[in-house]
Amino acid sequence: MKEVLLINGPNLNLLGKREVDVYGETDLEEIKNKSIEKGNLLKIKIDFRQTNSEGEIINWIHEVNEKFDGLIMNPAGYTHTSISILDSLKSVKKPKVELHLSNIYNREEYRKKSLTSEGVHGIISGFGVNSYILAIEAINELIKNSIR
Ligand code: DQA
Repeated sequence: MKEVLLINGPNLNLLGKREVDVYGETDLEEIKNKSIEKGNLLKIKIDFRQTNSEGEIINWIHEVNEKFDGLIMNPAGYTHTSISILDSLKSVKKPKVELHLSNIYNREEYRKKSLTSEGVHGIISGFGVNSYILAIEAINELIKNSIR
């Protein structure tokens, strides 16, 4: 069984209650269950986490080289601001996928730039809850192809 760390950034604990017109009505617990289910189908154990703290995200990213086969993350608002998260992503020598529920390229100007995407292999954006499922499929392909 492969193991993938899936990090959710700030405010994603409020999914289902926050801006439902943009992010939908599904809460993070349900997304976690769907992600774990998808992982099981592909023989990938998903370690699903959420934090509102930038430092905690960075400490978690530092675990990946030693403990995981890949990293999936929705950096939320830090996508657009955090050079520190980008720097930590660049230290990871495992497959990395960034995801967003919304399509960040058809929203406000300040969301159109993803700083963190420079540190990952690919980005999935705009498919709602399905972005999580597609990101798990993508990381599975990257792991199978031994992408570093
Ligand atoms: C988000 C998009 C970000 O711009 C925003 O700050 C979020 C959620 C998404 O999943 O669509 O919090 O990452």
